[in-house]
Amino acid sequence: MSEGFTIAIDGPAAAGKGTVSKAVAAHFGFAHLDTGLLYRAVGAKVLAGIDATDAARGLVAEDLEDDSLRTPAVAQAASKAAVIADVRAALLDFQRSFAARSGGAVLDGRDIGTVICPEAPVKLFITASAEVRAKRRFAELAGRGIEDSFEAVLADVKARDARDMERVEAPLKPAADAVVIDTSDLTIEQAVAAAVEVVLKASQR
Ligand code: DC
Repeated sequence: MSEGFTIAIDGPAAAGKGTVSKAVAAHFGFAHLDTGLLYRAVGAKVLAGIDATDAARGLVAEDLEDDSLRTPAVAQAASKAAVIADVRAALLDFQRSFAARSGGAVLDGRDIGTVICPEAPVKLFITASAEVRAKRRFAELAGRGIEDSFEAVLADVKARDARDMERVEAPLKPAADAVVIDTSDLTIEQAVAAAVEVVLKASQR
């Protein structure tokens, strides 16, 4: 089933879509693209004083390897840059080419099932309550030595949710034919198993 097979995974910040996407890609031997990293790389450049659209147009592979991309400041800058239509347009071809690669691909982000790959045979929308997502993000940041209060992390998650869902260009929402997985009460293993099951079912159709 791998020939050009695309798995589109969307969802809000810290819902577990990165973890699920990596595990699903490993399970099926597919390539994985975390599209949030593209926007984070643009956000990091904006914080360095570069125009967002210029940054998106000039993005190179090394820009995705910067350790600072995982900080809350870069996440907010990414979410702000992601509102700009020209930024999104500049990142479109790269994402679509990645999706079309012959060995199969998993892309995760906010608009993969709705805009980037609306024809993908499998679309997942991975979500969880804002409190659960903030708890996970808080623990993840603490694990990396980034000190922030839980309240600040929760406010950050909610602000990003609002901006990502309310924007005009490619807002975050499940595609009409997406399968929604709420990971609030699931372990990582359960969430991955649920996602793998959806993919297997779709591939038998
Ligand atoms: O998935 P992430 O948290 O790394 O994404 C960072 C920001 O990038 C997110 O708040 C909104 C934006 N983004 C987007 O608009 N579209 C995508 N496909 C992926 C991310």
